[in-house]
Amino acid sequence: MSDDELVLKVEDLVTNFYTYEGVVKALDGVNLFLRKGDTMGLVGETGCGKSVTARSILRLVEPPGRIEGGRILLYVPNEESGNVEEVDLLKLSEEDMLHVRGRLVSIVFQDPATFPNPVFTIGDQIAEVVMLHQDLRKEALEIRIEELRNALDKLEGKGGLVSSTRREKIRERLAHYESQLDDPPEPDPKYKKKAALKIAEDMLRLVKMPAPDKVMMQYPHELSGGMRQRALIAMALACNPLILICDEATTALDVTVQAQVLNLLNELKKEVGTSIIIITHDMGVVAETCSWVTVMYAGTTVESCATEELFYNPRHPYTAGLLTAVPKLHENRERLPQIRGSVPNLITPPPGCRFHPRCDYATGICETEKPHLKEISPGHWVACHHPLPDKGGKR
Ligand SMILES: Nc1ncnc2c1ncn2[C@@H]1O[C@H](COP(=O)(O)OP(=O)(O)OP(=O)(O)O)[C@@H](O)[C@H]1O
Ligand SMILES: [Mg+2]
Repeated sequence: MSDDELVLKVEDLVTNFYTYEGVVKALDGVNLFLRKGDTMGLVGETGCGKSVTARSILRLVEPPGRIEGGRILLYVPNEESGNVEEVDLLKLSEEDMLHVRGRLVSIVFQDPATFPNPVFTIGDQIAEVVMLHQDLRKEALEIRIEELRNALDKLEGKGGLVSSTRREKIRERLAHYESQLDDPPEPDPKYKKKAALKIAEDMLRLVKMPAPDKVMMQYPHELSGGMRQRALIAMALACNPLILICDEATTALDVTVQAQVLNLLNELKKEVGTSIIIITHDMGVVAETCSWVTVMYAGTTVESCATEELFYNPRHPYTAGLLTAVPKLHENRERLPQIRGSVPNLITPPPGCRFHPRCDYATGICETEKPHLKEISPGHWVACHHPLPDKGGKR
């Protein structure tokens, strides 16, 4: 795959947590990539490191956690030169990271309780984000011009000396502002705020929020879970990020609301051109909404390919096990096959391939050598010494 299709490439990411019990080796060489316009599902059992991966990408890992290795490459289009620049997020200053968070990579925690601030209205909070990340000079000037035009319209038809001098004055100001449209000056704060509020309301409309004008004035607690979720997405999209990461909490939303939100994300992707990472342990969600999947196991990435390929032709024994554990319609849940053994303790993880103690295909090499993620057939990456046979065309 050529790098010019990519927006994100994570290479050999290592994140550890230094706890009293010992060093939790949470991420042990995570590799993943995201292409422009893709919706990628990041899947794996609870505790496998999905959230730590997301937090590491944004450099939001808090002590006792530390990112200790790897590269997080972001491919950022340079609007002036038209070239794409490769930026290693692990090398940026904290100040530059503030620009990355929000403007380039946004994260939505799928837990509606996490709305940033309970005491400000939804409109003010989204507008705040917009003001932080957008220039708004042109938008603010346009609002000013529109206001003057409306004032002029109101005076239209009114006779008398007073209104004719007022009309003249307004026309002069209008001409003055219109002449600035090619190179708008730094806006007056009042108009900057008005422009941000307008964009905020447009964003609420984009995420299909019912009665967006009313919601602008409401506080987070006044909205239902699903509406709050929409507002969070509106806020994340308000800065038109390159990448949106949605980290699903296990219990946050009911299934219908979740499905609606994910479908909405896919629709929005087409409109705003954002690439998306959906973190979930629900394979059904992946099947319905993701074009690409990356599977994690115990702090490592084990398989990565197109969604359909993963479902029909899993090559890593862990993925195959995970898929047989997905309940199918009319199947008795209690008789589902399971992957034997249990998820390893990440303070003393198994050497070599972290999955080997649970794997039916493991041999000596699996106990000693960590398998690297390799492209074993076109578009299909697997980290395994003994990948399952390629079913290829036999679907
Ligand atoms: N603050 C912390 N201190 C110690 N260990 C931590 C900390 N945060 C995460 N971990 C460990 O890192 C590993 C990965 O956790 P993570 O939250 O990324 O899992 P996850 O895949 O997101 O799980 P879930 O599906 O339940 O959200 C876990 O073993 C967890 O115990
Ligand atoms: Mg998580």
